[in-house]
Amino acid sequence: MDKQLNLLYLSATDTTAKIVKEIAYGIGEPVKEYNITLPGDRQKELSFHNDEVVIIGVPVYAGRVPEFLTEYFVNVKGNHTKAVFLVVYGNRDYEDALLELEDIFEGNGFIGIAAGAFIGEHSYTGKLAAGRPDEDDLKSAREFGMKIKDKLININAHGKIEKLIVKGNYPYKERKYQQPVAPETNDKCINCGICATHCPKGAVDLVNFRVVDATKCIKCCRCVKRCPANAKAINQESFIQFTQGLIDKFSITRHEPEIFL
Ligand SMILES: Cc1cc2nc3c(=O)[nH]c(=O)nc-3n(C[C@H](O)[C@H](O)[C@H](O)COP(=O)(O)O)c2cc1C
Ligand code: SF4
Ligand code: SF4
Repeated sequence: MDKQLNLLYLSATDTTAKIVKEIAYGIGEPVKEYNITLPGDRQKELSFHNDEVVIIGVPVYAGRVPEFLTEYFVNVKGNHTKAVFLVVYGNRDYEDALLELEDIFEGNGFIGIAAGAFIGEHSYTGKLAAGRPDEDDLKSAREFGMKIKDKLININAHGKIEKLIVKGNYPYKERKYQQPVAPETNDKCINCGICATHCPKGAVDLVNFRVVDATKCIKCCRCVKRCPANAKAINQESFIQFTQGLIDKFSITRHEPEIFL
């Protein structure tokens, strides 16, 4: 087996983290975790050797890899390091996110050996892909891990890796920028500070937790879902309508995980 299995992931509302860990469980090796969700965890450069494997997981934002992460990923280097690419999306579509993730890391010295697109409860609402990943998703993730393990044994025995082909198109889907919106705070706030210390972008003021910098906020909804008092919510009418449109259109058909090996 390879020297070290690593997990590198961002997961604002924990769905990506669950799937990354379940894939690793299926591979069955001890792991080293690099959770890059908080700004402080994205400060240092990382490099991996050719006898390591890295599972790289990100949520899909607008059919792409979250843009602010692409800036950080320049600092993550491989040296013929084997990689598993994972995108997690909210039952709408993942469009070009998986292809983009593969391109970024293969350009940084990694070699893709497997990839997957899984489904997680939508960041914006509990009414789209509610409760996912569920037991079936986690079983799929474990089975995917077992297949990766077999592939690694094969690669180590024969030394040959064929080019990994994933779904996606060029040019990548264009990122559309909406008016900045951000969560508001209601009177139930108990001033616990969780929203400020857990924000992946440092957008919540560290002194006055009611103040959110809309220009920094990425609408990941971590503060909304983690607030113990139900005090944070994105209330802007345009956001509410957009989210309702997603529920109406994409909550009927259940998407299933896709894997590429
Ligand atoms: C800004 C933003 C954009 C998103 N864009 C998409 C999308 O294009 N397609 C989709 O199906 N889900 C989309 N989602 C939902 C997330 O991809 C999904 O909920 C994912 O499970 C979140 O991962 P996490 O729990 O690890 O943060 C988006 C979420 C956010 C916050
Ligand atoms: S997490 Fe909720 S209760 Fe705690 S400070 Fe933030 S808004 Fe207030
Ligand atoms: S303030 Fe914005 S970026 Fe920060 S946790 Fe809340 S939704 Fe995410």
